[in-house]
Amino acid sequence: MAEFSITNTTAPTTDAARHAALADPGFGRYYVDHQVVIDHIDGDGWQDPRVIPMSEWALHPAAAVLHYGQEIFEGLKAYRRDDDSIWLFRPDRNAARFVHSAERMAMATLPEDLFIDSVRQLVELEQAWVPVSENEQSLYIRPFMIASEPYLGVREANNYRFAVIATPAGPYYSEPVKLWITPNYTRAAPGGTGTAKCGGNYASSLVATKEAAANGCGQVLWTDGAEHKWVEECGTMNIMFVTADGELVTPALGSILAGVTRDSILKLAPMHDLTPVERPITIDEVLDGVASGQIPEVFACGTAAVVTPITGFNSPDRGVQKVGDGQPGVKTRAIRQHLVDIQYGRAEDPFGWTQRV
Ligand code: COI
Repeated sequence: MAEFSITNTTAPTTDAARHAALADPGFGRYYVDHQVVIDHIDGDGWQDPRVIPMSEWALHPAAAVLHYGQEIFEGLKAYRRDDDSIWLFRPDRNAARFVHSAERMAMATLPEDLFIDSVRQLVELEQAWVPVSENEQSLYIRPFMIASEPYLGVREANNYRFAVIATPAGPYYSEPVKLWITPNYTRAAPGGTGTAKCGGNYASSLVATKEAAANGCGQVLWTDGAEHKWVEECGTMNIMFVTADGELVTPALGSILAGVTRDSILKLAPMHDLTPVERPITIDEVLDGVASGQIPEVFACGTAAVVTPITGFNSPDRGVQKVGDGQPGVKTRAIRQHLVDIQYGRAEDPFGWTQRV
């Protein structure tokens, strides 16, 4: 474990205030009392890993992140089990993806063990903020990195700041979601930043999400940038289709985010009599399959959203279409429960995914 200096807050959240927050945490509404910060200085590498009180930062107005958007992030969760122990789920995958995102955005790369140590440091110190498992609550951990160097020329920055913050979280979506098939917007294109978890991907999605809302949908179904024909992702999540032939089909990696939940579900699929299939799939195949019953269930998955049933689509061409009977499907519910049970230690962890803090 890397050596971290720790400066404790002089104004910790009171027990009463924390209990009130944990009773109804929402998502991103409350923050733990400390943060991890590590700065990367050109030529000197990663400097002075430290835990400091949660507070604002001073940032030069010319910091490159504010102008050219060099920023990446991750999302993972800490789970409190019934015996009060606290566990992480596949943090190594997040650490590896963080390196990939950094490389794509021409940022300094953080060693994977330093990423994991930083997460562990914060969670260990903030154990009291990890909610009980009721209602599938957890502590959502947000590691991120920005280009901190003040410089207005367009080039990769020399200096970066890595930080970890955390927020207690309930379910991200409280209800199943309907998807709007946007004819106007694209999340990613070949050679673009689709495989990186960078803030810009999310910024550019917002106008499409507004369009989805205006069309009665909670999220956007993203199709490819060239033809608007091939399914990619939905909202901030990966998407999966259960077929009547017992397959679990999901778009192949390429310009989509390599989700940790996506990968986990593909590995669990055979235990639910589903053959995992990663392949290109067209929007017509999906909508025809939904209409004919060949695709009886659709769900989205991600760290924040876990497994979220998709119960309908809307598109300019084909209008509103319901998936199945418009209720979360049997396989969707079983896979969701299985994953969550592994995360909370209620089911066997056959792949060794969970790590105790
Ligand atoms: C996650 O599932 O961790 C995400 O990245 C979604 C987040 C943008 C809310």
